[in-house]
Amino acid sequence: MRPEQNLILAIETSCDETSVAVVENGERMLSNIVASQIKSHMRFGGVVPEIASRHHVEQITQCIEEAMEEASVSYKDLSAVAVTYGPGLVGALLIGVNAAKALAYAHDLPLIAVNHMAGHIYANRLIQPLVFPLLALVVSGGHTELVYMEKDGDFKIIGETRDDAAGEAYDKIGRVLGLPYPGGKRIDEMAHQGKDSYHFPRAMLKEDNYDFSFSGLKSAFINLVHNTAQKNEEVDKNDLAASFQASVIEVLVKKTIRAAKELGVKQLVLAGGVAANQGLREELITTMKQELPDVELLIPPLSLCGDNAAMIGAAAYVEYNRQQFAGYDLNAQPGLTFDSFEEQIVNK
Ligand code: KG4
Ligand code: ZN
Repeated sequence: MRPEQNLILAIETSCDETSVAVVENGERMLSNIVASQIKSHMRFGGVVPEIASRHHVEQITQCIEEAMEEASVSYKDLSAVAVTYGPGLVGALLIGVNAAKALAYAHDLPLIAVNHMAGHIYANRLIQPLVFPLLALVVSGGHTELVYMEKDGDFKIIGETRDDAAGEAYDKIGRVLGLPYPGGKRIDEMAHQGKDSYHFPRAMLKEDNYDFSFSGLKSAFINLVHNTAQKNEEVDKNDLAASFQASVIEVLVKKTIRAAKELGVKQLVLAGGVAANQGLREELITTMKQELPDVELLIPPLSLCGDNAAMIGAAAYVEYNRQQFAGYDLNAQPGLTFDSFEEQIVNK
């Protein structure tokens, strides 16, 4: 191992992906193993916590072995073990937290506790350096947040959803359209075949804050589908998808750009599972070129939008440099937010 080389073994088990990665200096993936359980949850129309935990138990050891093997490193090469400790499903998080503690103890390595949402933002550092101050639009199945970062490891939520997360709204209307869980990707594809003919409302667009709301849009969508079904009328599913997507994207993009302008950031960073949305990616690129040509836009590749452990390794490197380590009493924090992030870390 070269003296300047920092190697972090990272573990992510917050929801329905068991993932283990080895990341060099917070910016280079040596391996990123992702075992998805999505097929097991599909028939239930959502993630079943007990099933998720059981799958993590079954997968975790093999994922660790594969990540180490693919990275061609041994435990003595590692600098630390990192793990997602929240937010997420408590039973799922605990599998990763306990595996990480066992590895850290057995190999006498520091343990680093990582906020899953910080991981989504830092996924971008695996592609390009982050430049501060930056604004991150974090859109996932459980969260929709605008996060301002003055420097590494400093997260301030300046806006968030008041109700449903963007991904959650996609998945709920997907169910109404009879699509398998999670419906986000399929709706995105259908939206590209249709047009915005239903003109759903743009919630909170005009309000003088950076918050979002998607439950009114979801209800308008569901009411329209039910009302037309009662009248035995046909709906154009592609147009419905396009109309829903147009409303989500317009609000997300306009409010994000307004915030970026007002805060005078150097970079705008897209993050989270919904960052895979082609419509959102295209609209952000176009609008940024027109309205903020001097602000750099970072969009992660599709492979790093969803949950993965490499992003946890990238975020952990910041904590390593600050020597912020967790003790063996580290617990899962299912409701972890950025505000409580600092309080959870204890010096080793
Ligand atoms: O970040 P993620 O993998 O898990 C959480 O931390 O929540 O995000 C998963 C979410 C799901 O709601 C899924 O439907 C959504 O991301 N998603 C999409 C697309 N691909 C995944 N939503 C819209 N368009 C997509 N292309
Ligand atoms: Zn996630």
